[in-house]
Amino acid sequence: MNTHALIQTAQAIVAKGKGLLAMDESTSTCNRRFASVGIAQTLEMRRSYRELLLSAPSLSDCISGVILYDETIRQTRADGTPLVQLAHDAGMLVGIKVDTGAKDLAGHPGEKVTEGLDGLRERLQGYMEMGARFAKWRGVITVGDGPMPSPACIDANAHALARYAALCHEVGLVPLIEPEVLMTGAHTQARCQAVTEEVLRSVFAHLDVQGVLLEAVLLKPNMVIAGLSCVTQNTPQDVAIATVQCLLRTVPAAIAGITFLSGGQSGELASSRLNAMHTRHAKPGQMVTLPWPLSFSFARALQHPTLEIWSGQQANKKAAQDALRHRARCNSAALKGNYSAEMEKAMDTP
Ligand code: 13P
Repeated sequence: MNTHALIQTAQAIVAKGKGLLAMDESTSTCNRRFASVGIAQTLEMRRSYRELLLSAPSLSDCISGVILYDETIRQTRADGTPLVQLAHDAGMLVGIKVDTGAKDLAGHPGEKVTEGLDGLRERLQGYMEMGARFAKWRGVITVGDGPMPSPACIDANAHALARYAALCHEVGLVPLIEPEVLMTGAHTQARCQAVTEEVLRSVFAHLDVQGVLLEAVLLKPNMVIAGLSCVTQNTPQDVAIATVQCLLRTVPAAIAGITFLSGGQSGELASSRLNAMHTRHAKPGQMVTLPWPLSFSFARALQHPTLEIWSGQQANKKAAQDALRHRARCNSAALKGNYSAEMEKAMDTP
């Protein structure tokens, strides 16, 4: 393990004002999103959409890296250039989703465990050779009535995340560790916070057992938010306070950084909540004084409304790329506490 290179990569991902573009939807998820806006669900349309995202001008001003799916990391742009090369030429690091999906957890109806550890070492080596420098594994935690999530679900997912992280380091990839407490449900924000704290404690306990070097990992958590069908929804300030408190209680100061998932929040809400985390902890003229950088690794909150604008039409490509860059700029501004609703009115082009 080249510790120095791993730490440098992890730190580059959360460089000041930058975050990640997650574009690693599995084929079925990508097809579902295409179907929702009337785009043909073909290999070529998926390739073409991913090329559109990666070739958006000036994206790397705000985006340090992109998370790809297995299909995408093997594809080329129309002129034959590998899409990985396109990302590198644009100044962005390449990451890869390496789990094989959340499957039903035996004996625990309604709960999932993420699979993909079998053969992972060899797959990681292959991705490293293809140019990836970081990886992603997502565990999914559902908040339900009574004892859900179960200790079994939390433990199984945390164990898998730690085993994956250790394998990543062995091969030379920075692991992005994503334990996602889902927003679906009627639970309160306090319950989301309690569950998220329990999950993160378990994840870091398992990372400790596996001897994972914390300085070379990134955490990709959910924000602490009430369930989507909870009657009481939170202000951005509420989300910022609870999220930061939850992280301070559970996440070692040693890790390289935290890059939130969006989890189905709108682009504007995700930006305003991220912004509130930075204004609350910023001192005049300074960045946040937390032990780790807080950044973003959004899929939907960055890609919406790009996909809708594109609609599979070449003629809409530039407008779709402008929309992507706009969301990237809003989130970059949020990392400095400079995002405001005003920014949404002016969509600047390079
Ligand atoms: P969302 O931001 O849409 O939750 O996606 C995050 C993610 O991990 C996709 O890879």
